[in-house]
Amino acid sequence: MPEAVKIFDTTLRDGEQSPGASLDAKQKVEVARALEALGVDAIEAGFPISSPGDFEAVRNVAKAVTRPIVAGLARCAKADIDIAWKALRPAGHPRLHLFLSTSPLHMQYKLKKSPEEVLRQAREMVKYARSLCKDVEFSPEDATRSDLPFLAQVVEAVIAAGAATVNIPDTVGYTTPGEFESIIQFLYKTVPRLKQITLSVHCHNDLGMATANSLAAVHAGARQVECTINGLGERAGNAALEEIVMAIKTRSKYYGVTTNIRTREIARVSRLVSTATGIIVQPNKAIVGANAFAHEAGIHQDGIIKQRLTYEIMDAKSIGLKENRLVLGKHSGRHALGKRLKELGYIQGAEELQKTFERFKELADKKKEIFDEDLLALVEENTAAPEEVFVLEHVQATSGLNMVPTAAVRLLKQGKPLCASATGDGPVDAVYKAIDRIVGQSHRLVSYSIQAITGGTDAQGEVTVQLAAYSRTLTGRGAHTDIIVASAKAYVNALNRMASLEKPLKPGGKKRLGLAAVAPAKKT
Ligand code: KIV
Ligand code: ZN
Repeated sequence: MPEAVKIFDTTLRDGEQSPGASLDAKQKVEVARALEALGVDAIEAGFPISSPGDFEAVRNVAKAVTRPIVAGLARCAKADIDIAWKALRPAGHPRLHLFLSTSPLHMQYKLKKSPEEVLRQAREMVKYARSLCKDVEFSPEDATRSDLPFLAQVVEAVIAAGAATVNIPDTVGYTTPGEFESIIQFLYKTVPRLKQITLSVHCHNDLGMATANSLAAVHAGARQVECTINGLGERAGNAALEEIVMAIKTRSKYYGVTTNIRTREIARVSRLVSTATGIIVQPNKAIVGANAFAHEAGIHQDGIIKQRLTYEIMDAKSIGLKENRLVLGKHSGRHALGKRLKELGYIQGAEELQKTFERFKELADKKKEIFDEDLLALVEENTAAPEEVFVLEHVQATSGLNMVPTAAVRLLKQGKPLCASATGDGPVDAVYKAIDRIVGQSHRLVSYSIQAITGGTDAQGEVTVQLAAYSRTLTGRGAHTDIIVASAKAYVNALNRMASLEKPLKPGGKKRLGLAAVAPAKKT
């Protein structure tokens, strides 16, 4: 049996550091559950000291999942470690993940510390973390730009202090596959003890090499890879989980290792993360992009028909994709709907299924052919849905050449109808201005995007909006055969998410826990 490379998912921590990706507590738990079903070995749920929201999220994830390790990030400072440990306590398998920079640049300018001080701090804080939690991981931040003999010294010291995993981050996405492989080989050679613990890697994608670098490290012996769904993450993102896993699976003979991932869950989790974060997957994205299994060239299509392997190295079914085929229609009953949803991985209770069925019927009245993608949009509208403070009851817009776009909207708030009308630059702008009038506040639209869920002129449009609120970005989604209605639904969905924030954070920054002794934690 080949050895398994552990998959450490950091979608909820580094992934959430993607510009514009912000998940509320409910969404984080939903994603964590999906990651557990996917079979990841560890979930990094957040950086508890960075905000009360992150603290709560780590705590909620720690309670929500049972099998995977739940990790919380902490700087090498007692207060960070204490808060992270407090958040992780409910976890079945908690892990404290400590980090401290080791590159000359970071030590001189960011930490203002000498290498000796950094070495001492790393050793002492790992020891301290081990006194609380038996599973401690240490990351020498900016490792790939560090002096290698010094890096080896730090690695040796933290292993001696009790770290069970040492993670080598390419923090700024600077390394190359050949160079990274040599770094890992150097560390194994210089620090023989490394063989007794897990060597992990964490690569960023600034030069588009995060996946290649991670795999080069695996080839050199690394046995944990830190990665994110859809490659989300700080700046250009992290190594994409789906790419790492499918490369290891597809090239199993070359790598000689395996993973514990149930690959058939990949498409579903990718879609869930995209829905929750509002970050759309680019069509040509490896593995999970809409075009990843599409064949356009005639010669390719012909080859595929004769023998799929001529132009396909993976089977779309292996990541859980099904054909875009007609499944249900106007005359389909609740039972057929429930059965199909189950096949798609969604098991709904009677009450939930009834609600989905009602929406399905409404859709079937407008759209003759209901595809799997339509069904997914229907159920995902309810995924981690915020409480419906505002319900969209009516929306009407007129627009055209040489006329002023005008909209009228009626929302229900606790059963009370609230109406407004407005003009705007276009019909969507007019609708949003009317909604803002109703709620008595205008909102900055950070982004607006629309995608057709399936082909055909009667396809549903799926609108994703991001609104700026309380120093964070809130995502809303809505799908409908009428794109103006879909746009209104997405906006109202984002407003409901905003209204459901327990304690809105003040503009100008995340509220910090009362820890005066520690410098404000920034997202790393
Ligand atoms: O990129 C990085 O260095 C990190 C560490 C905290 C692991 O995210
Ligand atoms: Zn990172």
